[in-house]
Amino acid sequence: MSSAASIINRYTKKLNHFVNYTKRLIFGVNSTVDNNNNNSNCNHNSSSSNNNNNSNSLGNNPIQIIYEYLSKLAASQTFSMDIYSPENSEYIKKCLLVMNNLNLSHVGLEDLSLNQIKRSACMGIQNNENFEMAIFILPKGAILPLHDHPNMTVLSKILLGRLHLQGFSRNIENNNYYVFMNNNEQSNSNVLQINQQIQTSITENCEKSISDSAWYLSPSNSNIHQFVALETCVIFDVLVPPYCFPNRPCNYYAFENETDKVLNINDNVLLKVISEPSNILPIPVKYNGYKPTEKVL
Ligand SMILES: [Fe+2]
Repeated sequence: MSSAASIINRYTKKLNHFVNYTKRLIFGVNSTVDNNNNNSNCNHNSSSSNNNNNSNSLGNNPIQIIYEYLSKLAASQTFSMDIYSPENSEYIKKCLLVMNNLNLSHVGLEDLSLNQIKRSACMGIQNNENFEMAIFILPKGAILPLHDHPNMTVLSKILLGRLHLQGFSRNIENNNYYVFMNNNEQSNSNVLQINQQIQTSITENCEKSISDSAWYLSPSNSNIHQFVALETCVIFDVLVPPYCFPNRPCNYYAFENETDKVLNINDNVLLKVISEPSNILPIPVKYNGYKPTEKVL
């Protein structure tokens, strides 16, 4: 073997060793790290090919039904503050009801040894300019740290485990994080700065488990939240609109006063904007479950 070939061979072995190590670190051997996506917010593009091998092979997989309701929502409405809530959108209400029946088999996770997961992971199911569907997997004790969803509505359902949820609403009249222009470009006038203090009230402080119904946050209600996994958790999320259309960076927060961690509903809480805590954010992992297909509506 030439020296060049020998070097390439050694390099390939090292690379394979690293890939296998990463697989074991996150997921045992059953899934693969999504090398095409390093976005910690799980803002996956939807270019990966469809793989329905793990679906229940029915056209009515709840993921498909949710996808179709969200597509109808997108076709029927234009973006507006708080427009996407169960109170004013039949489609959001229907999505929440369908999510109540969602389980691990619908997203191809029923056979995985999820309790062996060593660190948080996320999987992108669908991402287009109108909505995003994703799964978050948190090992016991992991934290999805305080973060926001600027001008977004997020629907959530626990598919496995139990977590502690805290949600915060900003104490301002107008909860617009950004001013959106006609061409969907955002003005930076309201973009938050590191160390900026944000007055909030705590609006959620509870446990959520697999037996709880799907719930939601909106631009004005509980838009800042954090999860602490009390057991290994799988969470299914729908984000309307997604983080990336138009680009709306996620902000991360910390308590300004450590004593504020013990809270009662409606307590005022001062948060401060911090830089992205990338060391504890979920790692993107390739999704191998049911991928919804576009149908003519
Ligand atoms: Fe979130």
